[in-house]
Amino acid sequence: MSKNTPHDSAKKHVTGEAIFIDDMVEPNGTLHAYLGLSEIAHGEIEKLDLSKVKAADGVVCILSAKDIIGENDISPMHLHDEPVFTEKLVEFYGQVIFAVVAKTRQAAKKAALLAKIKYKKLPVKVDIATALEEGAEQVAKPLHLKRGDVVTALKNSKNQLDGSMQIGGQEHFYLEGQIAFAIPSEDDEITIHSSTQHPSEVQQMVANVLDVPINAINVKVRRVGGAFGGKETQSNLFAIVAALAAKKTGRAVKLRPDREDDMKITGKRHDFLLDYEVGFDNEGRIKAMEANFAARCGFSADLSGPITDRTLFHADNCYYYPAASLTSQPLKTNTVSNTAFRGFGGPQGMLASERIIEEIAYSLGKDPLEIRKINFYGIDEKNTTPYHQVIKDNIIARLVDELEASSSYQNRRKQIINFNKSNKYTRKGIALTPVKFGISFTATWYNQAGALVHVYRDGSIMINHGGIEMGQGLHTKIAQIVASGFGVDLSEVKITATSTDKVPNTSATAASSGADLNGMAALDAVSKIKQRLIAFIIEKFNCKAEQIIFANGKVKIGKEKLNFAQLIEMAYLARVQLSDTGFYKTPNIHWDREKGKGNPFFYFSYGAAVSEVSIDMLTGQSKVSQVDILHDVGNSLNEALDIGQIEGGFVQGMGWLTSEEVAWNEEGKLSTFSPSTYKIPLASDVPEIFNVKLANWSKNPANTIKRSKAVGEPPLMLAISILEAISMAVASVADYKICPQLNTPATPENILMTIERLKNEIQN
Ligand code: MTE
Ligand code: HPA
Ligand code: CA
Repeated sequence: MSKNTPHDSAKKHVTGEAIFIDDMVEPNGTLHAYLGLSEIAHGEIEKLDLSKVKAADGVVCILSAKDIIGENDISPMHLHDEPVFTEKLVEFYGQVIFAVVAKTRQAAKKAALLAKIKYKKLPVKVDIATALEEGAEQVAKPLHLKRGDVVTALKNSKNQLDGSMQIGGQEHFYLEGQIAFAIPSEDDEITIHSSTQHPSEVQQMVANVLDVPINAINVKVRRVGGAFGGKETQSNLFAIVAALAAKKTGRAVKLRPDREDDMKITGKRHDFLLDYEVGFDNEGRIKAMEANFAARCGFSADLSGPITDRTLFHADNCYYYPAASLTSQPLKTNTVSNTAFRGFGGPQGMLASERIIEEIAYSLGKDPLEIRKINFYGIDEKNTTPYHQVIKDNIIARLVDELEASSSYQNRRKQIINFNKSNKYTRKGIALTPVKFGISFTATWYNQAGALVHVYRDGSIMINHGGIEMGQGLHTKIAQIVASGFGVDLSEVKITATSTDKVPNTSATAASSGADLNGMAALDAVSKIKQRLIAFIIEKFNCKAEQIIFANGKVKIGKEKLNFAQLIEMAYLARVQLSDTGFYKTPNIHWDREKGKGNPFFYFSYGAAVSEVSIDMLTGQSKVSQVDILHDVGNSLNEALDIGQIEGGFVQGMGWLTSEEVAWNEEGKLSTFSPSTYKIPLASDVPEIFNVKLANWSKNPANTIKRSKAVGEPPLMLAISILEAISMAVASVADYKICPQLNTPATPENILMTIERLKNEIQN
């Protein structure tokens, strides 16, 4: 397998030839839907007057709660707390009340604005602090992870510290917005092109709302123009509305909201309020950790339960807590329902652990890296997590040692401390932070996948599997696995759209497990076909299995050589089955949520990053000058794609922690719903020096596809090093005596205010 094969659509992405849903040829008579949204965050609808909407130019029909045929529900956990169209109760600003279907998208959009809605406003709970004060409901059951006797361990520790931290949310800002295109056929059949990470869930949700069996609905996804978790559940709504409209009109219907509406309607990364208390010895060794993670979940559960669970699963990062008590608080607020986002709550938990390490370091007057290192999990001891899984593949110490040396961390840190002594208007900072990320869905049943492989008479191959291509290169990796399985060139393997009528009951492409799960399923299908081919060859050529080699587009049988295509034609004529399905389920994982114990993860992915930044003391602006990363992907399936994932994930994490601020006003209106008010990193923000290396000595001890490791989410958390480096630069104003306790995002104004606070504190 070539380690540097480019993404199968790379050229098409650049030239614009890649076909996304809005590029597809529309059938004659295609209609367009647009959504009508609430203008308040909490209240009751007293009067819904849609007469002007109905009478507007080009309008064909209107859909609201009473047009739902089956169940008015899109709650992914089946909690019945999230309607398609709300009928009476409005629970967030931007909630969908109705849809209008018209001959053109422009006509539908114009008409949607003509609704006259009278509300009775109710009090709003917008932020976490208010929700906590006023005793908000929780949208899901909190999780409590507990190991050892924390109260006693805290009391017996030489030192104690407590504190809190605000951790910001994040908008997905995928390039292709939400979109669905529904094409009705005979009987109840509807084909839906959806920009989703989870076609099987779209299929099931649409069937439930339309009250038809799941087999009536087919969902197809060739590619998604970025998702990042934002299309794991959030695409359901758009597909359902398009399908309902297609059913009602008998015409093809497309629904594509404007970016601003997309940002108002769809959930984001959860923001958190963290409270902690830590006990440690005089060297900085952690003895006890108590932490509470209150999350703004929005008006419904969506995936907030499993997301806040994963926050706790990563609140240890790479560190051993002899006694731990970790609690989640998934709070209900009158804001959009927050959802999956790369890392799935993990980044927030990991950030907490790094903040606490930093606090310990400042209190002892030490480099945070020293505190990190003495708290690393051990190999044969000190290796049990707060959820009682024993870590068996720990490589963090080696990774960090190698990176510390290769990046000249110690030297550069000394130079920076010197620089800061003599520079008034620019201060620098450097930090090395590690990452350990658990791989597997914690909902055990999600860890399964299917694949379908056809070999045609000319030797060309088609692969279909349950995973979604959203830019990460999954299809390229799977095609490589299939090609290497048959020993043919990659060009022989056709990548096709993911489709619920080819591979059923698939899981979301999420939790970084796309290649792990679907790669194994594809290999299973390939192996079955190959076994039959081998049996055929043995019989036909009267040879032994060991004499048969599939390689370089040929099949070697002892001294004879056939082209793969020749073999296939012979096998076809001999009536050998040349098509099969494959299946995979991850072994050895289980999780008992009630007890807070189990082995939720098949293995862990590791990484570490050193970031160097400078801040402008007058404006608070930060700039990244150098980033060095050493990351573990096991035996890489494709180094080019993996490095792309590491770079992209890192920069996305940097945006989360520095410039991307999700803000609501007191009434609960989202203030940051367009690129003019929401700042994602630009190409010019990519670190000037960006050295990314794979830990090429790492092999996954778990039996994964070719011993590779998942890469989709973990690199995002390497960006915590940026925040910690900014923190060091800020801390220089108080001679590193006070931990700056930066909240995130560390925007220029946040940095300036923290500098002022530290200057005041050091004077008093
Ligand atoms: N890369 C690109 N280009 N676009 C994306 O939407 N999503 C990320 C990551 N990398 C994403 C991406 C997320 S949230 C996950 S879970 C993984 O890709 C999913 O793909 P995988 O499991 O195949 O790695
Ligand atoms: N990431 C991690 N875990 C998950 C996800 C995800 O996107 N979805 C469900 N479990
Ligand atoms: Ca939620």
